[in-house]
Amino acid sequence: MPAEREPRPRSPASSSSSKRPHASSSRSSSTSILPTLVNWLIIALVTNLALSRAVTQSWTWGYEGKWTNPRKIRDLLFPSPPLTLSESQLALHDGSNPSQYPLYVAIDGDVYDVSDGGMRNYGPGGAYSAFAGRDAARAFVTGCFKTHLTHDLRGLSDGDLEIVENWKSFYAKHAKYRYVGRVVHPPIDPSTPIPEPCDGGKAQPGAAAGAGSGTG
Ligand code: HEM
Repeated sequence: MPAEREPRPRSPASSSSSKRPHASSSRSSSTSILPTLVNWLIIALVTNLALSRAVTQSWTWGYEGKWTNPRKIRDLLFPSPPLTLSESQLALHDGSNPSQYPLYVAIDGDVYDVSDGGMRNYGPGGAYSAFAGRDAARAFVTGCFKTHLTHDLRGLSDGDLEIVENWKSFYAKHAKYRYVGRVVHPPIDPSTPIPEPCDGGKAQPGAAAGAGSGTG
């Protein structure tokens, strides 16, 4: 006598399969556009990157701003609170011990971390190492890399002060440098003399700074 077969249970999938195409037909037409769109966007993005790389040797058509710098993007998304430094704290950041104290440049009170990209110019032996670990705003205008390493801007013309502002904006907009905070200076005694002009300060390249040669 043949064994009696138990009726095979119908899986929920098979039981509903006959109904599914009709039930979902209106929804699938609208949702299927999305993956196609995503595919095209990915293709467009990859093509754009490849073309840019082939034409400009850069992935971003030569643009190098904050939006292509991962560190800048991180700082924009997760900003760290600005620091307030004393002059002696700032001095530790002169590039002599960069693993412990990142390289800082200050101008008119604003302090920037220039470790990323600035080591050659501001690090020890660099052309502008005199600007590291201090606020030498005056020398930014006068080019007196020895005697004007001070934030004292007394006696400068409006045009000179505009130069300071331009430098400040240079650091603020720089793709790699990062705003750290402010350095607090002791107040300048108005009875102290204004720093003397130095001979030919502006005529000398910044290279005089680190080498210890050149103008006062
Ligand atoms: C008031 C006088 C000057 C000041 C305050 C000054 C300041 C500076 C500073 C701060 C930088 C570094 C900018 C950065 O972070 O990338 C720089 C770069 C440079 N400076 Fe000057 N500079 C002066 C005069 C000169 C002169 C007269 C020359 C040329 C004869 C010169 C040639 C250069 C060059 C070639 C660089 C780019 C270095 C590099 O990144 O490869 N500078 N300058």
